[in-house]
Amino acid sequence: MTVRTVCSEVLGEDPGFRKSCLKSVLGAFRSCFWAPAAHLKKEEVKMDCSVENCALVHGISSVKLTNLTNSKQVYDTLHLRSQPIACNSHCCCGSLVSGQSGARPPGSARPPQEMLQQAKEFLEQYYVSRKSETLEEYFKRWEEIKAEVEKFSIYNLTSEELAFGAKLAWRNASRCIGRIQWRNLEVQDARHVQTTGEMYEALCHHLEYATNGGSLRSMITIFPPRRNGQEDFRLWNPQLLNYAGYFQADGSVVGDPANVQFTRVCQRLGWNGKGGRFDILPWIVSAPGEGPKVYEVPEELILRVKLEHPCFEWFEEMGLEWYAVPAVANMLFDCGGMEFPAAPFNGWYMSSEIGARDLCDPHRYNITEEVALKMGLDTTSPTTLWKDRVLVEINISVLYSYQKQNVTIVDHHTAAQTFMKHMENEQKQRGGCPADWVWIVPPISSSVTPVFHQEMLNYILKPSYEYQEKAWKEFDWKQISNVVLKYKFASVAKALWFYSFLMAKVRMNKIRAKILYASETGKAEMFARRLGRLLENSFNTTVICMEDYNIEDLTQESLFIVVCSTFGSGDPPHNGKCFWRLLSKLKKEDVASLSHVKFGVFALGSSQYPAFCNFGKNVDQTLVSLRAERLLTMGLGDDLRGQEQTFNKWVKELYKVACNSYNLTVADNFSRIFLESANKWDKDQFRTIAVEGIVHDLCPDLTIVHNKNIQPCRVLSRVRLQPKYSERQTILVRLNTEKATNFTYEPGDHLGVFPVNPSSVVNRIIAFMDPFERLEENIIKVETLVDGSWQQYNRLPPCTIRTALSRYLDITTPPAPTLLEQLASTAEDKCDQDRLKQLCEDVEEYESWKMFKYPSLADVLEQFPSTHVSAAFILTQIPLLQPRYYSISSAPKAKENEIHLTVSLVKFCTEDGKGPRRFGVCTSYLDSLPGHDVYCFIRSTQTFRMPTDRSLPIIMIGAGSGIAPFRSFWQQRELELKEQGNTDIKNQKMPTSFGEMVLFFGCWKSGVDTIYEYELSSLVDKGILHKVYYAFSTQPGKEKKYVQDVLKEEFQLVIRLLSESGHVYVCGNAVMANDIRKALKIILRSSQSEEEDSEEHFERLLAENRYHEDVFGVLHPHHKKKL
Ligand SMILES: Cc1cc2nc3c(=O)[nH]c(=O)nc-3n(C[C@H](O)[C@H](O)[C@H](O)COP(=O)(O)OP(=O)(O)OC[C@H]3O[C@@H](n4cnc5c(N)ncnc54)[C@H](O)[C@@H]3O)c2cc1C
Ligand SMILES: Cc1cc2nc3c(=O)[nH]c(=O)nc-3n(C[C@H](O)[C@H](O)[C@H](O)COP(=O)(O)O)c2cc1C
Repeated sequence: MTVRTVCSEVLGEDPGFRKSCLKSVLGAFRSCFWAPAAHLKKEEVKMDCSVENCALVHGISSVKLTNLTNSKQVYDTLHLRSQPIACNSHCCCGSLVSGQSGARPPGSARPPQEMLQQAKEFLEQYYVSRKSETLEEYFKRWEEIKAEVEKFSIYNLTSEELAFGAKLAWRNASRCIGRIQWRNLEVQDARHVQTTGEMYEALCHHLEYATNGGSLRSMITIFPPRRNGQEDFRLWNPQLLNYAGYFQADGSVVGDPANVQFTRVCQRLGWNGKGGRFDILPWIVSAPGEGPKVYEVPEELILRVKLEHPCFEWFEEMGLEWYAVPAVANMLFDCGGMEFPAAPFNGWYMSSEIGARDLCDPHRYNITEEVALKMGLDTTSPTTLWKDRVLVEINISVLYSYQKQNVTIVDHHTAAQTFMKHMENEQKQRGGCPADWVWIVPPISSSVTPVFHQEMLNYILKPSYEYQEKAWKEFDWKQISNVVLKYKFASVAKALWFYSFLMAKVRMNKIRAKILYASETGKAEMFARRLGRLLENSFNTTVICMEDYNIEDLTQESLFIVVCSTFGSGDPPHNGKCFWRLLSKLKKEDVASLSHVKFGVFALGSSQYPAFCNFGKNVDQTLVSLRAERLLTMGLGDDLRGQEQTFNKWVKELYKVACNSYNLTVADNFSRIFLESANKWDKDQFRTIAVEGIVHDLCPDLTIVHNKNIQPCRVLSRVRLQPKYSERQTILVRLNTEKATNFTYEPGDHLGVFPVNPSSVVNRIIAFMDPFERLEENIIKVETLVDGSWQQYNRLPPCTIRTALSRYLDITTPPAPTLLEQLASTAEDKCDQDRLKQLCEDVEEYESWKMFKYPSLADVLEQFPSTHVSAAFILTQIPLLQPRYYSISSAPKAKENEIHLTVSLVKFCTEDGKGPRRFGVCTSYLDSLPGHDVYCFIRSTQTFRMPTDRSLPIIMIGAGSGIAPFRSFWQQRELELKEQGNTDIKNQKMPTSFGEMVLFFGCWKSGVDTIYEYELSSLVDKGILHKVYYAFSTQPGKEKKYVQDVLKEEFQLVIRLLSESGHVYVCGNAVMANDIRKALKIILRSSQSEEEDSEEHFERLLAENRYHEDVFGVLHPHHKKKL
């Protein structure tokens, strides 16, 4: 009976009526199809059926099955759906090992009619199981299948259909005692594979997933189906894991005698076993057109259990073992008319399979007598029951050893019990359970298990797993003359590479590890990715930016690692802000418990900032307060002291702790080896290729590389704001934004600028490259080797090497230790190698070398001339050139289509001021560019905004170019006043709708560094600014005065303005920002009330969003030294 039959019989052909009744008919059909017939007699079943015309119910002829222990009887009706079986009226074939297999020979798929018939039956079962699907969907799908079969003679099962079919086939497997688990089968859909290499990877994954460190999981891997005129995909092994059996000249066998024949096949294909008792046989896989290939099973993936006995110490000395995962590898999966000749599947062992059959069968390891003698049993007479006693003890040893090593196993009593339960369930759910008594009953103590006393009915339901002819028997051996072992590792290094490659491939469905990063200049991201590559070996790892993370996923996490830097003054980097807001909210509302989440935080920062690694610390604390389990003390990576080395150390520790905490085994030195190898430059992994075509437009390419809205802005002018003779130079840069789209900003925002590296440095690097790689007109792209094939490496767009060095890569910042390590691996000269290694290993040495020389990449290449940088090395290993931020120095409407920047030019001499002169990349670029386009983006700073209530006072505190954002504030204020009709408020009182605005400005010398002096005095004259307070730090003949000193002098003003709910804005370097905080706290102390001390008062200012900082960076130690 089909759904369509039911549909037309019950509903007739009227389409309107049909549609309205579809839902109810589907429900009726479901109840009919899986009618709970178990406890009913034939007549009762008929009465119970809600679809009158149901042919299935009409044809019912139930078989009574009795349980001989309790005389309980049930009626099997499910067998009516059985396929024909091979028994005939003269004999029962029930005990034939080959069973009732319906498998057909290779090379031809089922004839279309037969296939369609099975497809239809399968589809009905599938749709009945899918309660949410409608009949309309069923019909649509059926039409699709018909069309596909007509055209291609086969069709594609959807992934859901395939998974449903695989589970159902297990449910239908009449010989399996462990079927109660049938719903928990994981399906690896490997129908896309084309080569034996890909099959091998899938098998590795299967084994890894199934083993799961001993906590076994059931899985099936399904390779492509049989096709007409094509060889089958086959796995030749009987099981995924089997021990070799070596036939000896004296007729004995070393190893497992069951596998002598297959071992010979492996040997014939070039495999050389070690001749041991427990050598795992390689996988022999064949794919169309490729013939059989031999692949070693990676030892790392094989979980072996050494057998010992709880009472007999000598047992362990017998050197017995068995593998953890039993996986049938040679059966054909028959589903919906489609045949899948390669579909290995696994569950877990019942102890007697090993203890009774594998080890004690006379044609297997046959250890019965040996054990009996060691036990001191009398083996001369069967009446001593020595065999029975041995069997029990060996079974005890198997159970004991597996349990001791935390490997899943079930004893035959429990298995039998659960099978009884399964039968009961099945009887209720579908009116029967096909079961082959001969196989279900355990090989020892049979009659003391309940299954022994249960009548069973054996029949064949589809989908099913079928026996098929051994692959080597079907194979045409004449095709091959000389087969070699596919993988033979030449060296340890190769093996290591292969292992990491392999492990990366088999990561699906391991314990999940999520690595979140938040980064401003890219380091935290780089670290997070490096950590990801390590964890990937044992966890299913995802590395994700905080801003792309859905906070709702937090409660679902297992292993959760955060790698983040701190920016501003103790703030999250821009891409961590949103996450931090949501995480703090979770904490405040106390809505989530993360008690099952294990976490670790690595924080990057600079100890020169007062709030060192503040964001990381906050995240760490918050996760603790949400009751997540901290796996490892937070790592603090200091910019000024061996940040990378600290990270490397922390990562190794974390990996170990995480593996231990999830009971995963790791080679002790694995993380070290991994990190070392990860830091080595693997030149065979990348290649460059010249591409035809036009030079790309930079702006869109930068947009892709940096994932920001990057726009061109033309430099209109740059004006020096200090006299020419000044040692320091600050320039006002005017940019035209006409060409830029979506380029809106507010006072307080930043502009990100992408600089261009100086051509002098670029030239020096190019000079180091091989001449043929220097060809400047060549547009090149990079490819990387993935699973043996070259694939595009998408870090940079195709471009010339000069463009890459000028526009995309950071070649002026001193190379980090990892880069030095990579360079060391390219060095030919031993001295170069040693010195580079010393630099990357010795933190002190590295830091002082970096500070003293401040070497660019070009300097390093010149210092270590035997290093070799290829184009591929440059394009893949040199860090990206980061944008520079500038506080916008203009109000949006003050000058239509213009953005102004106040830029302090960076120049310094290395070697404690005595070495060569250096120029800041971006500042010197901006200083040299009128009429050119600069590529920029807006960075919105939600925290550095003028108060929305304009009547509130504003205290602005800045030093040097730290005055930059305040220019946008005062321009905005002037504009707003004008808009209110106050065109000239000179000598007038400030309208009360605007609060007081004062500026504290720190400079070096009066008349030299007092930038915007004229503009400021005119603002004061006009009454727009209430007052400017200058602080001069190097005024000849005057005492040093920093801006915080002047602030303290004016404490009464500060207190008054704060008492009027005023806002404080601080802009400059981190040290200055820190000093201002301290000064303000001192001031607040003088206004201290009884309820609140100065710390609390300051905290309140922060909490009320009335204290704003815009921190530029650190003050370099050499800044103070005169050039
Ligand atoms: C949010 C934000 C806002 C900013 N706003 C402004 C602004 O409005 N105006 C402004 O001028 N700058 C501003 N900056 C700083 C600006 O982004 C750049 O860092 C600065 O212009 C230098 O860039 P550069 O490419 O010229 O220098 P780089 O090539 O990046 O060189 C600077 C580096 O050189 C090194 N260095 C500097 N001086 C010395 C020394 N004496 N000895 C040894 N090494 C030294 C330091 O490592 C320093 O990081 C801001 C920074 C941030 C983060
Ligand atoms: C403008 C600016 C502000 C910073 N503020 C802090 C800070 O408040 N605390 C801190 O520990 N580090 C601070 N740092 C240092 C960075 O966190 C450090 O350089 C880190 O390594 C950057 O990592 P990233 O590239 O992932 O952003 C700041 C750096 C800059 C440039």
